[in-house]
Amino acid sequence: MTDTTAHLGLGEKKVDLPVKKGTIGPDVIDIGALYKNTGAFTYDPGFTSTASCESKITFIDGDEGVLLHRGYPIEQLAEHGDFLETCYLLLYGELPTAAQKKDFDYRVTHHTMVHEQMSRFFTGFRRDAHPMAVMVGTVGALSAFYHDSTDITDPHQRMVASLRMIAKMPTIAAMAYKYHIGQPFVYPQNNLDYASNFLRMCFAVPCEEYKVNPVLARAMDRIFILHADHEQNASTSTVRLAGSSGANPFACIAAGIACLWGPAHGGANEAALNMLQEIGTVDRIPEYIARAKDKNDPFRLMGFGHRVYKNYDPRAKIMQKTTHEVLGELGHKDDPLLQVAMELEKIALTDDYFIEKKLYPNIDFYSGITLKAMGFPTTMFTVLFALARTVGWIAQWAEMIEDPQQRIGRPRQLYTGEAKRDYVPVSKR
Ligand code: SDX
Repeated sequence: MTDTTAHLGLGEKKVDLPVKKGTIGPDVIDIGALYKNTGAFTYDPGFTSTASCESKITFIDGDEGVLLHRGYPIEQLAEHGDFLETCYLLLYGELPTAAQKKDFDYRVTHHTMVHEQMSRFFTGFRRDAHPMAVMVGTVGALSAFYHDSTDITDPHQRMVASLRMIAKMPTIAAMAYKYHIGQPFVYPQNNLDYASNFLRMCFAVPCEEYKVNPVLARAMDRIFILHADHEQNASTSTVRLAGSSGANPFACIAAGIACLWGPAHGGANEAALNMLQEIGTVDRIPEYIARAKDKNDPFRLMGFGHRVYKNYDPRAKIMQKTTHEVLGELGHKDDPLLQVAMELEKIALTDDYFIEKKLYPNIDFYSGITLKAMGFPTTMFTVLFALARTVGWIAQWAEMIEDPQQRIGRPRQLYTGEAKRDYVPVSKR
C-alpha cells in the first residue's frame, strides 16, 4: 500500500515517521525509529491508539459495527457456515473446498481424545474449583503430554499443535464440567459433528442414550463462530506477547485463557448473567441504571460497552436471535431473565448516558441467557468462550510466528518513581 509521512517535532528535534496504509481501516504511523531519533517513547497504557501488529485475519470497524474474518462478514459466516469451516478460514485464509472441509473435519475429529493420564490430572483439583481455573491449569499442562508438537520452528509441529488445541478444547472443557458436577467423563464420538460432540460430552450420562437436539447443536455451533476471533483483544494480545518469547503454543493458549477470565473481558458473560439474576425483575432496572451512571459506584452494566465497538456489536444481534431460537425450542420464551434483558436493553439504548458514551450491548449480554437455558452453569460460560476463541488465538499466534519481522515484545514505560538515591542503614531510618 502507498505510504506517506508524518512529521513530528519534539523541542529542537524533528522526525519524519512513515505512515502505512492497510487494505481498509485507519492508517498507522510507524514509530519504530521514534526513540532512536527523539529519545522519547509514545505513551498509550490501554493501547487505545496503538496497532501492535500487522494482521490479515480479522477486521473490526467499531463505529460501523462491522466484523470481518478474512474479509467475510460475521453475519454471513454465522448464517451459512459452521464452526470448523470458520476455523479453516481463520487458519488458512480461504473458505475450504468440499474436499478440504472433509479432510479438515476428519483431522480435527481424530484429535479429539486427550491422553488418558489427563483424567488422573483432573483428580488433583477440588470438585468445587472454578472450571476456568481447571482450564488454565490443564491447558498449560498439555505441553507435558504433547511435547512432540512444541517446537515452534517446525511448521509441521505448529500445525499439529493447532489441530490438537482446536480438537481437544471441547473434550477438556467437557471434562472440567463433568468433574465439577461429579459425573463420569464422556469420551468423544467420531460420528458426531463438533458442536454435537461437545454437547454430548457435557450432558450424556452412562445410564441412558443421549439424543442431540439439532436446534441446540446449531445454536452451540453458531455461538462458537461468534466467539472465534476478535482482532487484537486483551487475551489475543496476551497470546501474541507470550508467543513472541518462543513459548510453546499450549503455554501461550493457557495465558490467553487466564486473561480471558477477567470480568472486563471474557468473564463478562458470567458477570452479565449474575447481574440479570441480581436485578431479578423489570421494576428494579432503574435502580441499576442509576448505579451504572454513578461515578462513585463501581457497578457497571455487564454485557454493555466495548473498547472498540461504539455501535451495536454485530455479534450481539446474532446472539439475540440465537437466544430467542433456543428459548423457543426449550419452551422458556417467557424466561424472566430474558424479559429483564430485553427491558434493560430497551431502556439503556434510549438513555442519554449510554447514548453519549456509546455503550451498546456486546456479545456477552445475551450469551449467558442462552447458555443457562441450554443447561450450562454460569461458571462454564467463560470456558465456552475460551473453547471457541482458541482457534482465534492459534491463528493469531501462527501469523505472528510466521512473520519474518517478528521479535520478542518488549514495551517500555514512563518512569515516575524515585530518582537514584543511596542506601540508608536501618539504624539511621
Ligand atoms: C469482550 O476487546 C474485545 O474485542 C473483547 C471482546 C472479544 O470478543 O474479545 O469483544 C469480548 O470482552 C466484550 C466486553 C465485555 N465486557 C463487559 O461487558 C464488561 C462491562 N464493560 C466495561 O467494563 C467496558 O465497557 C469495557 C471494559 C468493555 C470497555 O472499557 P473501555 O473502552 O476502557 O471504556 P471505559 O472503561 O473507559 O468507559 C468509557 C466510559 C466511562 O465513563 P467516563 O469515565 O468516561 O465518565 O463509559 C463508562 C465508563 O464509566 N462505561 C460504562 C460501562 N462501560 C463503560 N458505564 C456503565 N456500564 C458499562 N458497562
